[in-house]
Amino acid sequence: MRPSLLLGTSVVVLVAAVSCSRRPSEPIGRLSDVLSPVAPNELRSPEAFAVIADPSERSKALFLEASRVLLHPRCANCHPDGDSPYQGAGADWKPHYPPVTRGPQDKGVVGMECTSCHQDRNVELARVPGAPNWHLAPREMAWVGRTPRAVCEQMKDKSRNGGKTLAQIVEHNAHDELVGWGWRPGAGREPAPGTQERFGAIVAAWVETGAECPSEEARP
Ligand code: HEC
Ligand code: HEC
Repeated sequence: MRPSLLLGTSVVVLVAAVSCSRRPSEPIGRLSDVLSPVAPNELRSPEAFAVIADPSERSKALFLEASRVLLHPRCANCHPDGDSPYQGAGADWKPHYPPVTRGPQDKGVVGMECTSCHQDRNVELARVPGAPNWHLAPREMAWVGRTPRAVCEQMKDKSRNGGKTLAQIVEHNAHDELVGWGWRPGAGREPAPGTQERFGAIVAAWVETGAECPSEEARP
């Protein structure tokens, strides 16, 4: 073998050795460290997570994937950290215009009810989004400004998730109509990544692997 070829081969072996050095139980910081990249508007399939051998680490990684939807503005605008919704593309969290507040039942106040503007479907010409029973997520279901871990902990906590079992959490994410609006937000609004069906499958896989929460630092 010529020396240059030999050198080439040993470089390849070295690279392979380095990329295999991650111990299976080492906590995952970023999904792209262990999984193939995914387009911002897509979700990985639950099967893509099979490469993570340890079920508890796989569960945490599945939640990080789900958090790409949960913390997307289509969801989080309606799961705000205060008494008013947000609007727009997120990151800067623009307050809802006109100013509205949740009122006693998260449905607005007399004269400014959510459903006086928001119909049971999107009204495209007026750019008013809509879905049946449009109202704000209760205060204890706030996601804006929280880490994926914090959202995970509260979503499992019956005192903060509307008394839901894990099976009901899967069902809500997979079939609820306000959730479903996140993928049918109307013209000019970016939908949540992937599809509701795939998102439901990710949440179901998270529950099946023990509904583990990622570390405080972990981000998708
Ligand atoms: C128009 C407002 C609105 C939008 C948009 C919205 N939600 Fe919600 N969400 C609510 C309300 C209201 C509740 C409480 C209803 C209940 O408990 O049945 C809720 C509760 C939940 C819950 C159960 C409680 C919890 O926090 O664990 C989950 C899960 C959830 N939403 C997921 C989503 C996801 C995912 C999206 C985006 C794809 C989304 N929501 C978009 C209003 C909204
Ligand atoms: C006076 C009319 C009016 C009232 C009342 C109203 N909204 Fe809105 N809302 C709008 C309009 C118009 C938009 C679209 C803003 C835009 O994106 O240009 C909007 C957008 C939103 C969005 C952003 C959706 C997204 O992600 O793009 C949320 C969330 C929302 N409203 C929730 C509520 C809730 C909850 C209430 C009741 C507490 C409420 N709104 C009351 C008119 C209203």
